Amino acid sequence: MNIAIQEHSQPLIIDGKATAQTVLDEIKSEVQQMKAQGIEPCLAVVLVGDDPASHVYVRNKVEKALYVGIRSLEYRMSADTEADTLLQKIDELNADATVHGILVQLPLPAHIDETAVLQRIHPLKDVDGFHSENVGGLSQGREVLTPCTPTGCIRLLKDTLGPDLSGLHAVVVGRSNIVGKPMAALLLKESCTVSIVHSRTQNIRDICKNADILVAAVGRPKMIDASYLKPGAVVIDVGINRIQENGKNRLVGDVDYDDALSVVKAITPVPGGVGPMTIAYLMKNTLDAARMQANIFKK
Ligand code: GUN
Repeated sequence: MNIAIQEHSQPLIIDGKATAQTVLDEIKSEVQQMKAQGIEPCLAVVLVGDDPASHVYVRNKVEKALYVGIRSLEYRMSADTEADTLLQKIDELNADATVHGILVQLPLPAHIDETAVLQRIHPLKDVDGFHSENVGGLSQGREVLTPCTPTGCIRLLKDTLGPDLSGLHAVVVGRSNIVGKPMAALLLKESCTVSIVHSRTQNIRDICKNADILVAAVGRPKMIDASYLKPGAVVIDVGINRIQENGKNRLVGDVDYDDALSVVKAITPVPGGVGPMTIAYLMKNTLDAARMQANIFKK
């Protein structure tokens, strides 16, 4: 009698914290080289209002900038700041040649038009990659500043699957401007076959089930369980959801991690997966912005 033995190797847990540290150390040495050439990369972070989560994010950004040797400037403005005051601050930072990157922490208070603010940042200083010039540039496949979280996800995918992602079917769950849409654009740039599914998509599960790469960025705790996954898929979980479980506060992703483990080839945990990569790529974008500006202003 022939018995078919199915190989079932352990899934790989993608260590975003370790990869982010590697990226930060690469940046650290590149910053040193740049400083030796007389350029000190500098990131300005603008925070409006008192959203506690935003304060934590901004503190982390400033801390990591210090670690890699990037100068950081922090501007805090009260929640009732007029849009014009914020726009003026951006104009000032745009005009300051010693500032290479500008990040306005989102979300902004409801009375301020977010798009108008993001569009005011000079595209070469737009380290978030949210300006339409950069969004358009990415979609045309030009070398522009790209959003930090999806760019970090591409790095994790290449570290896991090798540098060539071409021909793989990638499904992005979610269509936000910050993650879903730029993620799809970056995967397309890598020659993946890309599907985007969202709240109005029919048969989400069937589409996900075909994914070699699944990126979840919807903000719905544990929405993706094993029944959505193709055996051997690589799963990147961008979700960070705070839930109550057994009377305790817990952070979980958009993927039901424990359930998914039985089918995936590799998966990012939450926390410790995608999260740390976002800040690492913000530092990378600041370095790239400083380089781009140095080249342009040398002419
Ligand atoms: N708030 C949550 N994520 C982000 C981000 O990627 N950039 C900015 N500027 N604000 C955020």
